[in-house]
Amino acid sequence: MLPLAGPRFIRCQTHRLQVIYKSLLGIRRMNFLMETLQVIVMSIYYNMEAVVRLFIPPKNKNVTGEIVLITGAGSGIGRLLAEKFAPLGVSLVLWDINQEGMEETSRLVQEKGATKVHYYLCDCSDKSEVYRVADKVKREVGDVSILINNAGIVTGRKFMDAPDSLIEKTFEVNTMAHFWTYKAFLPAMTANNHGHLVSIASSAGLIGVNGLADYCASKFAAIGFAESVALELLATGKDGVKTTIVCPFFINTGMFDGCNTKWPLLLPILDPDYVANKIIEAILTDQVYLLLPRTMYFIIGLKNIIPAKLGILLGMYLGAFNFMDAFKGRVKKVE
Ligand SMILES: NC(=O)c1ccc[n+]([C@@H]2O[C@H](COP(=O)([O-])OP(=O)(O)OC[C@H]3O[C@@H](n4cnc5c(N)ncnc54)[C@H](O)[C@@H]3O)[C@@H](O)[C@H]2O)c1
Repeated sequence: MLPLAGPRFIRCQTHRLQVIYKSLLGIRRMNFLMETLQVIVMSIYYNMEAVVRLFIPPKNKNVTGEIVLITGAGSGIGRLLAEKFAPLGVSLVLWDINQEGMEETSRLVQEKGATKVHYYLCDCSDKSEVYRVADKVKREVGDVSILINNAGIVTGRKFMDAPDSLIEKTFEVNTMAHFWTYKAFLPAMTANNHGHLVSIASSAGLIGVNGLADYCASKFAAIGFAESVALELLATGKDGVKTTIVCPFFINTGMFDGCNTKWPLLLPILDPDYVANKIIEAILTDQVYLLLPRTMYFIIGLKNIIPAKLGILLGMYLGAFNFMDAFKGRVKKVE
C-alpha cells in the first residue's frame, strides 16, 4: 500500500483530478454560454411578442360552462365583473356580506343574460365560513374554475390612529381570505390542470402610500401570495391554471371617495366600468399582470431603479403624499 501513496502516485492522481475539473469547467462554461444565448434569443422573442400584442390583441378564450366565483360581488367592481361575465355563458357564484347588494347584483346579471346565478352570504374574513360556504358551492354548483378574489376593505386612517382590530380585519379580508379560497378551490383546478385565479389587488400593493399603511401592506402581501402560487403552479407543470394580478389606481366606486389626484392626465381616478372591462379582457386573454392606468407600468418600473431621494421627489410631484388628505370613503366600523 505504501508505494501507492508515494509522491508519483499523488502527482498522477492530482493530474487526473485537474483534467476532470477542467473538463467539468469547460462543460459549465459551455452550459453557461448556451443558456445565456438561449435567454437572449427568448428575451428578444418575448419583447417582440409583447410589442405585437400592443397592436394585435390575442384571441379571447371561451369561458362557456366555466363556474366563476366573485367575492365582494355585492357592489363596485365585483358587481360589474359579474355583469360583464353574465352574457358569456358561465355559471356565476356571488359571495358577499351584503345580502341586498348580492340580490341586486343577481337581478342585474339575469337582466344581462345570466341563466345560472347563485349567491351566498359569506364573510371572507372568517376562515371556517369560507370553507363551509365553499363546500356548499361545490355540492350545489360544482367545482369553481375561475376564482376572483375581489372583496376588499380600507381603514383610511393613519397607521397610529388605526385600531388593531381594523388592521387585523384588513389583512383578513384583503389577504388571508385569498389563502382560504385558494385552499378550497385550487385542488380541483390542479387536478384538471384547468382554471384561472384572479387577484384584485391594487397599485397600493406595489408602492407605499402615505396614510394607507395597513391597506398597502395587505395588498403587497396579496400580490406576493398570488405571484408565488403562480410560480408554484408553473414549477409543478400545472400551466393550465392561469393567473391574473390586477393593480389599479383609485377607482370611482365609493371605496376611496374624496381621494384626489394631482395630475388627472397622468394618474386619473379610474372609471369603474373601464376597470371592469380591462379586467375581463385580461382574464379572457390570460394576461398575468394588469396595471391601471398604463402610466403605472412606467411609475413602478422607475421606482425600482431611481435613487430613493429622487423617488420621494417624484412621489411629491405626483401628489402621493396627499392622496388620502380628503378621504371620506367606505370605512369599516370598529367592532
Ligand atoms: N376603489 C378603488 O379605488 C380601488 C383601487 C384599487 C383596488 N381596489 C380593490 O378592488 C376591490 C373592489 O373594490 P371596490 O372599489 O369595488 O369596493 P367596494 O367597497 O365597492 O366593494 C367591495 C365589496 O366587498 C365586500 N366585502 C367587504 N368585506 C367583505 C367580507 N369580509 N366578505 C365578503 N365580502 C366583503 C363589500 O360588501 C363590497 O360589496 C377591492 O379589493 C379593493 O381593494 C379598489
